[in-house]
Amino acid sequence: MKTTGGSTEAKRRAGEHAATAVEDGMVVGLGTGSTAAHAIRAIGAAVDDGLDVVGVPTSFQSRQLAIEEGVPVVDLDEVGGVDLAIDGADQIADGQLIKGGGAAHAREKIVDAAADRFLVVADPSKQVESLDHAVPVEVLPAARPVVERRLRELGGESSLRTAERKDGPVVTDNGNVVLDCEFGTIDAPGTLAERLATIPGIVEHGLFVDLADEVHVGTAEDVTVERL
Ligand code: 5RP
Repeated sequence: MKTTGGSTEAKRRAGEHAATAVEDGMVVGLGTGSTAAHAIRAIGAAVDDGLDVVGVPTSFQSRQLAIEEGVPVVDLDEVGGVDLAIDGADQIADGQLIKGGGAAHAREKIVDAAADRFLVVADPSKQVESLDHAVPVEVLPAARPVVERRLRELGGESSLRTAERKDGPVVTDNGNVVLDCEFGTIDAPGTLAERLATIPGIVEHGLFVDLADEVHVGTAEDVTVERL
């Protein structure tokens, strides 16, 4: 699973801590990324010990890992709802998130937003005073030029995310491309999120505003939990 930096130990602590919130009978949203992967492994170990849950993966990668770890998986449209979602983040400020480092933010947002309780798992490098990370924007391929123009009108400087071991762009699990859009310091994430959501051609953006219920941050020794 791809990592976006940060301490592996801190990520493991955060992921495993959040996994202790999973209870018998739950439908659990399985996030994407190296921190959420620790939670998926911990849920897999608990399933081995008799825990009865189903997971709703947020990406090809989290589905593969869940299957390898023995967590039964279902699609979102097979369940009535999601009890708990556990997912990582690229930046966290005042409980607002930027996600999409793994280009999975469209499915992540659907599953995380559907959950009764959404736990964010992270290492301390993700916590900042103000959001200023590039915002990943998933775009229908043919709409890229018009979306780039609209993003520029909003003050954003976007670049097409390119693949590392393939020529050309990253193609998402939904067959789209990703523009990473720099807005500098984002003082009003809610306003920017609303504006991005109105641009035709954008499938989903990586600003997760007022979605998280708890932030579990792994440290060198333990885990801090912020309830929002
Ligand atoms: C994937 C994501 C990830 O949750 C985010 O990139 C954090 O990843 P990691 O836990 O590996 O640092 O949003 O789209």
